[in-house]
Amino acid sequence: MDGRDGNGEVLLMHPAHTAVAHAEPSLGAPEHAHHRIGLHRIGLIGAGRVGAVVAARLRAAGHEVVAASGESDASRARLAALLPGVRHAKPTDVARGCDLLLLTVPDDMLGNVATTLADAGALRPGQLVLHTSGRHGLAVLAPAAGVGARIGALHPALTFTGTEVDLDRLAGCVVGLTAAPAEREVLEGLVADLGGRPTWVPEERRTLYHAGLAHGANHLVTLVAEAREILAAAGVDDASGTLRPLLEAALANALEQGDAALTGPIVRGDVGTVHAHVTDLLAAAPHTLPSYLALAQATVSRAVLDGRLTALRAAAVRGVLADAEQALLERGAAARPGEVRR
Ligand SMILES: NC(=O)c1ccc[n+]([C@@H]2O[C@H](COP(=O)([O-])OP(=O)(O)OC[C@H]3O[C@@H](n4cnc5c(N)ncnc54)[C@H](OP(=O)(O)O)[C@@H]3O)[C@@H](O)[C@H]2O)c1
Repeated sequence: MDGRDGNGEVLLMHPAHTAVAHAEPSLGAPEHAHHRIGLHRIGLIGAGRVGAVVAARLRAAGHEVVAASGESDASRARLAALLPGVRHAKPTDVARGCDLLLLTVPDDMLGNVATTLADAGALRPGQLVLHTSGRHGLAVLAPAAGVGARIGALHPALTFTGTEVDLDRLAGCVVGLTAAPAEREVLEGLVADLGGRPTWVPEERRTLYHAGLAHGANHLVTLVAEAREILAAAGVDDASGTLRPLLEAALANALEQGDAALTGPIVRGDVGTVHAHVTDLLAAAPHTLPSYLALAQATVSRAVLDGRLTALRAAAVRGVLADAEQALLERGAAARPGEVRR
């Protein structure tokens, strides 16, 4: 008996578990080695922004990170900074030497990596194989399931820098999980070790879940970048400092109140102000006009549904937006991002 169960897990006590392990503590064992169920020997394939941070957080919670792969200078630097002392190995060796394999490679690589590892005989029955993709659920790990591995998706809903600042940000972060019922407990235990909060996402809704996060977080970045450029074109020196209090309040209000948080010319029905905006944007920052128009259209619709904008006013705003779209087309404005006319 080497201290592992049939799944290769160390028979120690997991902090998320309430039952007490019955194994006798061995004399002279270090204090931190008190018996916990569910401590793993983790292998990391992909020491990228997410992999290095997640593995470091699990290591701090008591799991052992036995080996990691990642060839680029950036991946090697992350390993040195976040996982010092962890053995560097090629992916098949990483997979063979662990009981919990974290596949933290780009989304489009996941299927290939899983197939390659399974075909190489590097995966085994009972081994846990998890990925951190938001978009994918279990289907992409079918090659691993095919050899009897236990599979799951464990996606921290966070934007990662790949540095130690992410370690604290994981605290309280929601982690989107997809797994079969048999794997639920072990995944929730890992989320507890990350300091996160689990949310279960059905396999068929996985892409929708990810689209919601990407629409919110990624498009927010584009929106803010454009707002900064428009303010710079207006001659504002500190565009970020000018936007920060406004955007932080808008975000906090929207997260709490939804559409009720909306203020500004559209919900007030100030057609003249919207007309002035699109006229000046067309002249001074035309590359921002398509997203301004698309978001203004969506804002009009939501304000009508919310009962705060009358159909008459909405029609007037929509007319202004349609005219601006037409003017943009006629102008053939193929302005590139960053091309701001002052
Ligand atoms: N970035 C985020 O904020 C974030 C947030 C939540 C979830 N995720 C998800 O987490 C996963 C990893 O994303 P990331 O941003 O950490 O990616 P990343 O920084 O680009 O890192 C990818 C890692 O995978 C390795 N890799 C690439 N192709 C590989 C292959 N064919 N075989 C083996 N290793 C390979 C890379 O090694 P080299 O450096 O040697 O190329 C690198 O270590 C993705 O599924 C992503 O959707 C990302």
